[in-house]
Amino acid sequence: MFLQSIQLKNYRNYEKAEAAFSPGMNVFIGENAQGKTNLMESIYVLAMTRSHRTSNDKELINWADDFTKISGRVKKKQTDFPLEIVVSKKGKTARLNHLEQKKLSSYIGHLNVILFAPEDLSLVKGAPAVRRKFLDMEMGQMNRLYLHHLVEYQRILKQRNQYLKQISRGFKADPVFLDVLTEQLAIEAAAVLKERLRFVKQLQTWAQPIHSEISRQKELLEIQYSSSIPIELEEEKTEEMLYKEILTHWNKHLEREKEQGTTLSGPHRDDLIFIVNNKNIQTYGSQGQQRTTALSVKLAEIDLMQEVTGEYPVLLLDDVLSELDDERQTHLLKAFQNKVQTFLTTTSLDGVKMNLLVKPRVFHIKGGQVEMESE
Ligand SMILES: Nc1ncnc2c1ncn2[C@@H]1O[C@H](COP(=O)(O)OP(=O)(O)O)[C@@H](O)[C@H]1O
Ligand SMILES: [Mg+2]
Repeated sequence: MFLQSIQLKNYRNYEKAEAAFSPGMNVFIGENAQGKTNLMESIYVLAMTRSHRTSNDKELINWADDFTKISGRVKKKQTDFPLEIVVSKKGKTARLNHLEQKKLSSYIGHLNVILFAPEDLSLVKGAPAVRRKFLDMEMGQMNRLYLHHLVEYQRILKQRNQYLKQISRGFKADPVFLDVLTEQLAIEAAAVLKERLRFVKQLQTWAQPIHSEISRQKELLEIQYSSSIPIELEEEKTEEMLYKEILTHWNKHLEREKEQGTTLSGPHRDDLIFIVNNKNIQTYGSQGQQRTTALSVKLAEIDLMQEVTGEYPVLLLDDVLSELDDERQTHLLKAFQNKVQTFLTTTSLDGVKMNLLVKPRVFHIKGGQVEMESE
């Protein structure tokens, strides 16, 4: 799939801008603070309804205005259709084919994007929450059922935590009500866990050969799911089996949860472990290994998404070329440019191996203006 065009209204430092993109390589060139990342972010928001940089939607609105609109047109093998996101002080609406979509799961997945930015190194180095967000964002794009269960899990978790908090403050609990909440939560937890285990397995299958190639056959990458509930994570386990084990664990630790006023374990506390040549590289890896791993995982998603959805996603590479050495740059640019629409930002083309790029469409970004270079 690819993004044919975009129009921005009052988006960050763009008052009004539009651009028609190449289905191949698109390069955004500009000095710092001119709006390159903002433009990348707007594509991400159009796909995901939310920013990768902030959870506060209002930051996306130009300071001088009270609403912002992003519209774009997506082309797939068989169809093409418009998408639109409007954020105002009152809230956010998402339109697919001009029709408002009330449910996130009916909007997300129509434009699939994979973003690679310098902060992606934190996928390996950062806190567990970074890796959970990665799982949820990537899986949510491909798997509507997962998104549904995740939203339900978070809704019930919030309710259960509020109730546990009241109990911890001396409120007399209704044991039946708490049991019902716990059972409902365990049903969603099992569904979320089952899908995550499947995804991590697939991700490893695609990432291993890529990692091996980038490291010149010197490194074997493994990706493990680390559950905060001590259960054996065998693949054959059914959702029903997972459900029973989760429930047993929660019931065993109920008194502690009542004291502490929160749900102490579950998918909201889980993590991913990246292992290279039998070592956990979050603690023992070099910066280079961590970078290669983050890159392998992102590149693996491209193939994985194609396998699952039948279409390649759009690749957004913000400020990453300067971060990579020549070999990794070559790998990144060569691997996908003929099959994947790619957006690339850079302050100048000097450091970029232009000979690897097949006829890029170049856009100059200056003070919130986008100008296409004549071809
Ligand atoms: N809501 C907003 N309204 C107006 N300008 C904004 C808003 N948010 C960020 N900016 C401006 O956008 C600029 C940064 O753009 P960015 O895309 O991050 O730059 P770069 O080209 O370096 O990637 C800054 O000058 C910042 O002040
Ligand atoms: Mg930037």
